[in-house]
Amino acid sequence: MTTRIPAELIERLRAAQRVTALTGAGVSAESGVPTFRDAQTGLWAQFRPEELATPQAFAANPRRVWGWYAWRRELVRKARPNPGHKALAELETHLTARGRAFTLITQNVDGLHQQAGSRKVIELHGNLQRTKCSQCEEIIAQWEESETPPPRCPLCGGLLRPDVVWFGEALPAAALQAATTAAQHCDLMLVVGTSAVVQPAASLPLLAVEAGATLVEINPQDTPLTPWVDYALRGTAATLLPSLIATIQPLNR
Ligand code: OAD
Repeated sequence: MTTRIPAELIERLRAAQRVTALTGAGVSAESGVPTFRDAQTGLWAQFRPEELATPQAFAANPRRVWGWYAWRRELVRKARPNPGHKALAELETHLTARGRAFTLITQNVDGLHQQAGSRKVIELHGNLQRTKCSQCEEIIAQWEESETPPPRCPLCGGLLRPDVVWFGEALPAAALQAATTAAQHCDLMLVVGTSAVVQPAASLPLLAVEAGATLVEINPQDTPLTPWVDYALRGTAATLLPSLIATIQPLNR
């Protein structure tokens, strides 16, 4: 699939002073990390979220929940950033070198944006590679696996859980505040690889629209956000992001 990038969008991107990107699972799909809602391959086509991604599920069966996240952690550990992640890192370098602002907001918990070189990353849903204590809530970055998982908190003995946001839980307040500010103050927002159905992340692009920003969606499919976007680029992140970033080349201009 070739998607032409409209000349007017290229001009807007070149002129933008404050760019914000919001990414979802689709940006990591081409790194081999499964999305959640794609019909055949998405995690929620194979697993029930309420049995794996809620505090109630963890309370009922901590071993099962821990095991599922341990499987995902391994999968992500083997994954490498793809050209989509790299293009966003390049865009950050390009803009910040020229005194312009760039903020990357991600719903992903895989850390691939940081691996690709992105520096200013707001993680709305946590990170798989960290754990926190389910009792004292201390973040535990290093832990010993136990023969009877989940391992226990070295500080209080509570059960460790992944440091990710589960359904029914609040997002980290500082991350949500920073993301809201970045949405309200950008003049162009890229929305990449998200089905835009999980709140509050799905509302961030609408804040940008309200503030008069240009909204660009990069996704092979329509989403509930599509009626609001100025440009819908239909294709994959690993193809379209590098093409889009190449339009503002030469990067050292
Ligand atoms: P979803 O799985 O809901 O949506 C993935 C989106 O990526 C879909 O719109 C696909 O069309 C699109 N997509 C698939 N392959 C792509 C590709 N190669 N390039 C670009 N787009 C592609 O994932 P999210 O929107 O990230 O939350 O899901 C949001 C949240 O729901 C996740 O953070 C997770 C999940 O439950 C928690 O676990 C708290």
